[in-house]
Amino acid sequence: MTLDDFQAVIASKVDGAWNLHEVLADYPLDFFVALSSVAGVIGNRGQAAYAAANVFLDGFMEYRRSLGLPGTSIDLTAVRDVGYLAEVDIKRQQEVLKNIGTDGMDEAEVLALLAAAITGDIADSCSGQFIVGLELSTLDHFWAQDAKFSVLYETAKAAHGSGTAGGSGPSAPLNVLLANAGSKEEALHICYEALAVKLAQVLVISLEDMDPSITVASLGLDSLVAIEIRNWIAREANANVQVLELLSSGSLMALAEIILNKSQV
Ligand SMILES: NC(=O)c1ccc[n+]([C@@H]2O[C@H](COP(=O)([O-])OP(=O)(O)OC[C@H]3O[C@@H](n4cnc5c(N)ncnc54)[C@H](OP(=O)(O)O)[C@@H]3O)[C@@H](O)[C@H]2O)c1
Repeated sequence: MTLDDFQAVIASKVDGAWNLHEVLADYPLDFFVALSSVAGVIGNRGQAAYAAANVFLDGFMEYRRSLGLPGTSIDLTAVRDVGYLAEVDIKRQQEVLKNIGTDGMDEAEVLALLAAAITGDIADSCSGQFIVGLELSTLDHFWAQDAKFSVLYETAKAAHGSGTAGGSGPSAPLNVLLANAGSKEEALHICYEALAVKLAQVLVISLEDMDPSITVASLGLDSLVAIEIRNWIAREANANVQVLELLSSGSLMALAEIILNKSQV
């Protein structure tokens, strides 16, 4: 990367934030919110300049707060339905989600966070920097063993009840396992197993308590968890299942069948 390339990437965030800070210096602001990215927190591969620009935003908001000025940064994870990622093809989108190790987030969630930043709720609860959507439900992300995540990593590992990265999850990504299944019955079994593991991880319940005949409704998924499961299905099985459909699908095996029928693997 040349210096010019680096500067071209960081300019809109670095110069933009600085210029706004300067030009608004004499105005008493209620809020000053930066849309930053988890790329800075994890040091996303292939995005060094973009990551640096976002780390600047996080630091700059901290600097503003140190001056007694409002300053909040929201470190967004990949947004699936609007913005840059919504405009790339589904394959690229899934690559990005997988690389970060996230199920992504929706516009509604971004707007909810913006509202919380504007009202000051984020500043009150997270010292002005809110990092969203980094998941350690599988432990094989490239960033997961970075020293700064060690407490989170150890906690997640203990929750998975496993000493090895990857926990009790499947041996390969679901779409790979499905593509290699020898029959529809085998694919259905694989799909159910992966779904059960994911639900057990997200709901922090024992895998032994999962059963093909358990209904999704009886698991008591709230809307955020339902969105997470829906996004996981999209990412892992390449299947578009609506949240309502997911919640009303009946048994876990029935949901696995819906996923399989919709899967474009
Ligand atoms: N989309 C995601 O998945 C995601 C994830 C994490 C963080 N974020 C952060 O969320 C924010 C919005 O992302 P997005 O995906 O919505 O991006 P986007 O679709 O590319 O939109 C970027 C916006 O910034 C404007 N812009 C770009 N360079 C500028 C410059 N030099 N001066 C003034 N305006 C400039 C663009 O204006 P024009 O329309 O005129 O080009 C456009 O309105 C960004 O800060 C991004 O880092 C996004």
